[in-house]
Amino acid sequence: LSGDEVLVVSNREPYIHTQSPNGIEVQRPASGLVTAVEPVMRACSGTWIAHGGGSADKLTVDKHDCVSVPPGNPSYTLRRVWLTKEEEQGYYYGFANEGLWPLCHIAHVRPVFRSTDWEQYVEVNRRFADAVIKEARTDNPVILVQDYHFALLPNMVRKALPKATIITFWHIPWPNPESFGILPWRKEILEGLLGSTILGFHTPFHCQNFIHTVDRYLEARIEHDASTISYCEKLTQVQAYPISIAWPESKQEESGEDICMEVRKELGLSANHLLGIGVDRLDYTKGIVERFQAIERLMELHPSMIGRFSFLQIAAPSRSSLEEYQNFEARVRTLARKINTRFGSAGYEPIILRTKHHEPEQINRYYRAANVCLVTSLHDGMNLVAKEFIASRDDDQGVLILSQFTGAARELPEALIVNPYHIEQGAAALYRALVMPEVEQRERMRCMRALVKEFNVYRWAGHMLMDAARLRRRERVTAR
Ligand code: G6P
Repeated sequence: LSGDEVLVVSNREPYIHTQSPNGIEVQRPASGLVTAVEPVMRACSGTWIAHGGGSADKLTVDKHDCVSVPPGNPSYTLRRVWLTKEEEQGYYYGFANEGLWPLCHIAHVRPVFRSTDWEQYVEVNRRFADAVIKEARTDNPVILVQDYHFALLPNMVRKALPKATIITFWHIPWPNPESFGILPWRKEILEGLLGSTILGFHTPFHCQNFIHTVDRYLEARIEHDASTISYCEKLTQVQAYPISIAWPESKQEESGEDICMEVRKELGLSANHLLGIGVDRLDYTKGIVERFQAIERLMELHPSMIGRFSFLQIAAPSRSSLEEYQNFEARVRTLARKINTRFGSAGYEPIILRTKHHEPEQINRYYRAANVCLVTSLHDGMNLVAKEFIASRDDDQGVLILSQFTGAARELPEALIVNPYHIEQGAAALYRALVMPEVEQRERMRCMRALVKEFNVYRWAGHMLMDAARLRRRERVTAR
């Protein structure tokens, strides 16, 4: 693809400029999508189009709404699109996050479909499609469309740029046809996505769900062997590309032992205190309540852990203007309080709950200091926290407890795999993790590190881009 133009479009921007008492600050958002796509963009440059939502975003762009990023070491362009309050409400909070998000995650939260949200979703997809078309300097760019916010955009762009290679990646699960069928605009969403040249999901299972959904609701020709769909004379390749992270290049400066001491000191814990870590957006799909219940059960079953084990939960606020998220936060807080009242004592909290944004470097320190990391999503496309924890453990120590309902569980059988709905099982896994001999930790961690190191995010992007290059070549030859 060398020399080809690369455009990325996503809702969430990789850098958010905010106004603070100390001037303008830059934040890196808590988003699996950003974690994965950002290193790829650094490596291949190009333009990333995203919603400018930060309070100082408008102050940092040029007259084309562009800013060079990463700050201090620019390698690509961030082009911001501005949304009105109504657009943000209907398209982002409404249709994307009250409709599509619960529709695609089997987390038992009922999706809400309002016609007014849908109208905004169509409108905002149009606006971003126009931005892509305007940014394109050639008639055949490679366009990387990210996630459920832009299901209609591929077909909109396809109409204006028929020669473009549109790679759409769906970062969340795809449900079965029955579940998807309740969506009033199912046909439009499917047709929109079939404007893509390549449509990627994390797992073959989600690809199958998508193909079955198309089979059920559209008159399309499906080649199951080749995993392609022909619809209205367009061909879409449906393929699994398990997403990953950038493997840390350089050796970590501080030793693991120093970090363990420092973090424990910071949290007011003794040097040999056992520490668990959880890092999530405050989202009802992440299984945070079930995780706390497993910790409570651990303390009931193993009183020796009371006073000896604490769990640090970093819960970044997310989509907090939605009622479902406010209720969820209240549930998480109440349960943490209940457990702390029941098992805590002066100077000891079993659950340390931090509901604010943390930068990646801070989180990395907590990962390295922890004995165990809990990822207990009720449903998750991949889950990159699991892979980040593994990448941070250059001491080959630490245990990962991983929900069977994450894409990551299919790649990481050496983790302790649990059903997060099964509280007893969660408690047993936690106990097993806390008493696991170092040798066993090392064996498991080494396998997982080898896998994440090899199948890193450059592999993910490279695989997609190579498939795209192959299709482009084929098209050039057959067009002759
Ligand atoms: C998930 C989604 C991403 C999203 C992220 C953070 O990982 O797949 O598209 O960016 O959550 O959510 P937010 O709504 O804050 O962008």
